[in-house]
Amino acid sequence: MTTRVLTGITPSGTPHLGNYVGAIRPAIAASRAQGIESFFFLADLHSLIKAQEPARTQRSTLEIAASWLACGLDPEQVWFYRQSDIPETNELMWFLTVVASKGILNRAHAYKAAIDKNEAEGLDPDAGVSAGLFMYPVLMAADILIFKANRVPVGRDQIQHIEMARDFGQRFNHVYGKEYFPLPEVVIDEQVATLAGLDGRKMSKSYSNTIPLFAPRETLKKLVFSILTDSRAPGEPKDTEGSALFQMYQAFATPEQTAGFAKAFAEGISWGDAKQQLFERIDAELSPLRERYEALMAEPEKIEALLRRRGQQLREQYAVPLLKELRHAVGLRDLADVPRAAAAELARSAPPVFKQYREKDGRFYFKLTDGEGTLLVQSTGFDSPRDAGQLIAVLKQAEQGDALQSDLFTLEAEVAAVLAALATLRDAG
Ligand code: TRP
Repeated sequence: MTTRVLTGITPSGTPHLGNYVGAIRPAIAASRAQGIESFFFLADLHSLIKAQEPARTQRSTLEIAASWLACGLDPEQVWFYRQSDIPETNELMWFLTVVASKGILNRAHAYKAAIDKNEAEGLDPDAGVSAGLFMYPVLMAADILIFKANRVPVGRDQIQHIEMARDFGQRFNHVYGKEYFPLPEVVIDEQVATLAGLDGRKMSKSYSNTIPLFAPRETLKKLVFSILTDSRAPGEPKDTEGSALFQMYQAFATPEQTAGFAKAFAEGISWGDAKQQLFERIDAELSPLRERYEALMAEPEKIEALLRRRGQQLREQYAVPLLKELRHAVGLRDLADVPRAAAAELARSAPPVFKQYREKDGRFYFKLTDGEGTLLVQSTGFDSPRDAGQLIAVLKQAEQGDALQSDLFTLEAEVAAVLAALATLRDAG
């Protein structure tokens, strides 16, 4: 089976060199590997959480789509689509919402940060916090699970979201008794460089130190020449270590070219010459991309048609059949089927129950019966109802897949019997 790799891109702003080196270029390179099915999508529904300016949303979506295509993403080799073109995602999101625990969402970093900030400022904790921000991880889980993705490459800030997607998927599988979703693995690329910006800090929109990826040649040159350097004069040896300029050169050069540049540093190249070389190097890589980008931006209707076509194919091939299956799984079914199927299934699917009681010998017992009342397991006697209750609680947890508490292993035989009975029931159901 091929591995499915899914990458979500939130369209916001125009991409800069840091995005290109750190995310776009490595992701496109990885998409060319054999034996994988790649999914790349524009997370336009997610973008609405932050930006509620329609014209900007539209513009960003177009720019980001054109950027990835210009950088070499092959839309016939990978699935390239727009989140909002797969309406089944929203329906799946609801199915996940009803099994997702609110407590987990309370702990999501982005939501928690907003709450903490409000509290620190003495405001109502929920001030200005939308339910969209709160539900962000559930929508993201739906993006991933709808295509049964196996691997999800993300930045560190997104690891928690992938863990949540696993949790929601697992809960759904558990509640509805079948492995509908494989659990996605997070992929963190340790190698990926973060590029330094014009001022030497990490290149980031929030520091206003970026170089736009498709800046016209003249602008690119001006920006490269504005990179912060130390004040060493021409002829003085320069440090490559900690030099934003050197690091940027390295991100666009072969190892041989980089070695040559390091040598020039040691030999005291002037900052002006170094900047000129860096500019030429970046421009050599980017100028064909810039040309493609401009051509794509001149024909937005082509991008629109491409995204629609791929989205439609994905729906037909995956999303619509999956939702059909899931609707049935959760019980959104043809009502005409009820008389025939329901009775048998109800009996089968009624959950097993634990019953606690006290015998004439004064001791406390429990038994496990299936949905129809058939006795499955009978416990031995306990001294207190609390002891019996605790074991039941642990068994219920164990059944959910949590580890058994070790101090209860004295009751090993009982535990094993209950778990075996539950497993048999589950397999039959
Ligand atoms: N939240 C991701 C980000 O900001 C974008 C995203 C949305 C995503 N849905 C996804 C990433 C699903 C991976 C999988 O970077």
